[in-house]
Amino acid sequence: MTTLSGLTSFDKVGKVDKEDPVDRVRNPYTPNAGSAPPVLAGRDAELKDFESVLERLASGKTDKAVAAIGLRGVGKTVLLGEFERIAREHNWVAVPAEISKTKEFGPQLANLVRKALFQLSPKARWNDVAKRAAGVIRSFSMTVQPDGALTAGLDVEKIDGAADSGQFDEDLADVLESLGETARDVRRGVVFLLDEIQFLSKDELEALIGAIHRCIQRRLPITVACAGLPQLPGVAGDAKSYAERLFHYIQVIELGPADARQAIVAPAAEEGVRFEDAAVDAIIEYTDGYPYFLQEFGRWVWDLAEGPVITAAEVADARYLVEAELDESFFKTRVQRSTKEELRYLRAMAALGPEPQKASDVAEQLGKTSEQVAPLRARLIAKGLLYTPKFGFAEFTVPQFDKFMLRYIPDF
Ligand SMILES: Nc1ncnc2c1ncn2[C@@H]1O[C@H](COP(=O)(O)OP(=O)(O)O)[C@@H](O)[C@H]1O
Ligand SMILES: [Mg+2]
Repeated sequence: MTTLSGLTSFDKVGKVDKEDPVDRVRNPYTPNAGSAPPVLAGRDAELKDFESVLERLASGKTDKAVAAIGLRGVGKTVLLGEFERIAREHNWVAVPAEISKTKEFGPQLANLVRKALFQLSPKARWNDVAKRAAGVIRSFSMTVQPDGALTAGLDVEKIDGAADSGQFDEDLADVLESLGETARDVRRGVVFLLDEIQFLSKDELEALIGAIHRCIQRRLPITVACAGLPQLPGVAGDAKSYAERLFHYIQVIELGPADARQAIVAPAAEEGVRFEDAAVDAIIEYTDGYPYFLQEFGRWVWDLAEGPVITAAEVADARYLVEAELDESFFKTRVQRSTKEELRYLRAMAALGPEPQKASDVAEQLGKTSEQVAPLRARLIAKGLLYTPKFGFAEFTVPQFDKFMLRYIPDF
């Protein structure tokens, strides 16, 4: 039987060829969204900071929530996964969730807080504090989803006047507060790990911020760690400075040369495989230290190499495979649902380079006025392809997207 990976028999799958140190079965790299890499390079400070947030909250001190912000493929989801692991190690209840454009946030949260309560305290042991939290969660669930679909297991009296105002911000604050009180009562903490928060609407994000604010004021051991693209739509002015006071912003960026080197070299070393120095240098240069690109490069060059020392010549060969793979699996999927005009806009922007570009400069490149192309630009921002690092400027949310656009549409 021939499998897609070129193996000739299922019998061979899973068996390591002892003679071959770069056997594909041993390939240690993890070029997949959210996959924990064998070596998490360059994030020690962030992990320590998160740990200290948990410790402060557990001891009744206040601290800000955490927001990990960065481009696609820099390792935000992986970082949240590590936060989850650390939280569990500290005996916190950790509740992960991914925000999506198609899922309503209210009902999603109702489900998460219910889960958190059952983990904090099994129903048989509910005291008055936990029972009250169950009642508040029940009210909240009934408010955001009146058919009662989210109340299984919450067969307690609904608490009147808590989480039933129909004002999402008030109700959310009530529900997190009562959950936080239960956590404190059982001497544990709760952290919600919310990925892709750029999909929250302005109202939802503001409600979340308000609820966190209330929990901080009440010194409750409950917090949020979120991750998302560097674009919080519609959050400007007051809400923005408010958010800045309530969140530790972690700018998740590409790895510096030493960390990038570790990300490539260390997983191989564990398998007894070495890289020529020049080979690693070439990978770092090509990938700019972006974690996803590093993993993809590691995977391809491993599969192509003779071993046990991966050479610069093999890296040079693998580069074409890496580029083809990135184009197919990472870049093209981002532009597939773009219109012709949107593609032209992206291409015009790419011609100006990778850094943030002024809206008027891109318009000029297209022979149009800023007003004419403003709706186009707004759509690309809404689709998450661009974000606005400062007023009047836009930047790609995908690293090296400029280079891709020049490859994708060579003549312009
Ligand atoms: N610190 C790191 N060191 C090495 N590889 C990493 C690191 N962080 C993430 N990766 C790898 O990078 C890729 C993208 O990670 P992911 O967390 O999905 O990024 P994001 O959520 O920012 O788009 C994955 O293949 C993952 O294994
Ligand atoms: Mg992610």
